[in-house]
Amino acid sequence: MRRPVLPVRRFLSVRRSGIHGRGVYARAPIPEETRIVEYRGERITTAEAERRYPDDFTGVHHTFLFAVDDDTMIDAAFGGNLARWINHSCDPNCEVVEEDGRLFIESIRDIEPGEELAYDYNYILPQRHTAKMKRRFPCHCGAPACRGTILGNKR
Ligand SMILES: C[S@@+](CC[C@H](N)C(=O)[O-])C[C@H]1O[C@@H](n2cnc3c(N)ncnc32)[C@H](O)[C@@H]1O
Ligand SMILES: [Zn+2]
Repeated sequence: MRRPVLPVRRFLSVRRSGIHGRGVYARAPIPEETRIVEYRGERITTAEAERRYPDDFTGVHHTFLFAVDDDTMIDAAFGGNLARWINHSCDPNCEVVEEDGRLFIESIRDIEPGEELAYDYNYILPQRHTAKMKRRFPCHCGAPACRGTILGNKR
């Protein structure tokens, strides 16, 4: 049986974040290794995502896309739930776990009431992660070990 997620209203709230725009906050203690919420939205192909959000390489990047695999993405702009407001942190308290093509946000440490939930977006672009690209994907997580970008380490 699939592990259950938390009752959203009791455990989570959405409000303005010091990191970016809106964020998701814990309303009650959440223990480590809890399956918190599913990242819901419309399942689309990567080609459809590129059609919907053509990158003109100007301005700061912003979408509600999450890559499931090389060919599939979840677009939380359509049919998305509260999980779409969870921000990136370079020192996160959550991670995203894939199960049967579905994505779940799970805690990787105990989370106190009032703490903002965050996971490492680890965005990987098809092109090189140049200094210019990193500036288009800045990170404002505020962690002492912030790497300055929400892009991941590309091998
Ligand atoms: C799925 S949204 C997350 C919700 C977002 N705060 C909002 O209000 O729309 C993802 C976008 O939020 C922004 N974002 C998330 N975490 C960030 C961070 N640590 N630093 C800067 N921008 C961030 C980026 O623009 C990213 O593309
Ligand atoms: Zn950071």
